[in-house]
Amino acid sequence: MMLDQVSKPAYPDFHALVDLQAGLVDRSIFSDEEIYKLELERIFARGWNFMCHESQIPKPGDFFLSFIGDDSVIATRDKTGKLQVFLNTCRHRGNAVCRAEQGHTKSFLCTYHGWTYGLDGKLIGVPGYKDFYHEDLDRSQWGLVAAPHVESYKGFVFACMDPDAPNLNEFLGPVGRMCIDQIASRGKLAIVDGVSKNIIGCNWKLAVDNVFDYYHVITHMSAFMSGGTAPVIRGGPGGSEPQRTVLGEYGHAIGGPKLTEEDVDAMKASPNDAVAQSRDLYHRMLPEVQETLGDVGVYAQGHPHIFPNFWVSGNQVSLRIPRGPNKTEIWWFTFLDEDMPKETRDMRMHRAIHAFGAAGMLEQEDGENWDQSTRATRGVLAKRYPLNFRMGMGHDIVQKDEKSGISYIDTLVSEHPQRWTYRAWADWMTAESWADLKRDRAPIPEGIA
Ligand code: FES
Ligand SMILES: [Fe+2]
Repeated sequence: MMLDQVSKPAYPDFHALVDLQAGLVDRSIFSDEEIYKLELERIFARGWNFMCHESQIPKPGDFFLSFIGDDSVIATRDKTGKLQVFLNTCRHRGNAVCRAEQGHTKSFLCTYHGWTYGLDGKLIGVPGYKDFYHEDLDRSQWGLVAAPHVESYKGFVFACMDPDAPNLNEFLGPVGRMCIDQIASRGKLAIVDGVSKNIIGCNWKLAVDNVFDYYHVITHMSAFMSGGTAPVIRGGPGGSEPQRTVLGEYGHAIGGPKLTEEDVDAMKASPNDAVAQSRDLYHRMLPEVQETLGDVGVYAQGHPHIFPNFWVSGNQVSLRIPRGPNKTEIWWFTFLDEDMPKETRDMRMHRAIHAFGAAGMLEQEDGENWDQSTRATRGVLAKRYPLNFRMGMGHDIVQKDEKSGISYIDTLVSEHPQRWTYRAWADWMTAESWADLKRDRAPIPEGIA
């Protein structure tokens, strides 16, 4: 037997752990250490990861610290203005070469022994190169490790460490692009300084799952009752408003409320009125935005999510960054349209601060639930019982928009987007390479969903 056959670990059957015929998900995927390590390999180290917005690093030498899975990375622009992403680790003893979260620099200096790297990642300074190394060090081989793929779509910068990955456009596909178009079409976007960051004691997938969850109205009753936030979750129990799920390649999806013809007619007639403002959809009444979003996207008012962990939420975007199986760091970036009236900008900022993030009433309530759900995936007894993902299963039809070819499901509150996300997760976890993933991933469903 060959050595690589002997040493190859046996992985679980991920399509059995996520059993979408039965609508059941095994709790181990939320707390098993080995599964978590494999997620870092097969999902984060393989996929495209959101880094930052181009406006956060507009000039050569500007940098922004981000993550690919659990690895710290530096997103920067070299002297030519080209976007670059490097692992934030010195090639000598591994120390971080960048400690500030964001800033401007001429080079990256390691504070341990002083190796220095240029903005293009090249090793340009080695103390004692002549006397201690006797010039016997090929500096060209010891630059920072660069991401082979760095690209942006409408100003949103992504990086990928796998040389075999498809380009960003192909990875996003029409639904991934639609997710970003939902925010990029909001006008002349300017980022608000600073990123809100906080840690929740949950598995990252439960925080992603909740992006599509329009069923958990009861979670937020205290926020609603306190008047701290408007009841923004529509169509939950007691509501009968329509919902739309949009299904994209590689696990991208949009899930949540669907605008009705009456909504659109009302907003077209009066795009600045209170309904349009409160629903935050005035920009969708512009013909050019309708053209960009297409017939499926313009009515999809739910939450767009780019697999694995990038959520577009109104004028904000969020990352759910894994910090171990039982810990997730939540990041919130906020954008405002420069051309917006001051009153509207103020309202958006107030909502951004008080809904999600470290001071957000909604996400603090969510986080308590995710924390408890995660704990209950560790107990030897509780672990024997799978989680229920059956809502809406077998009761809806997948439709296809002829013009764009995009598939979607129109229904009430359901768990279609969550099932699609976990199905993609099992595909990513099973595939050993991009070639496998491209060939073996589940096709977008047709017929009964
Ligand atoms: S660890 Fe960076 S110079 Fe030694
Ligand atoms: Fe919530």
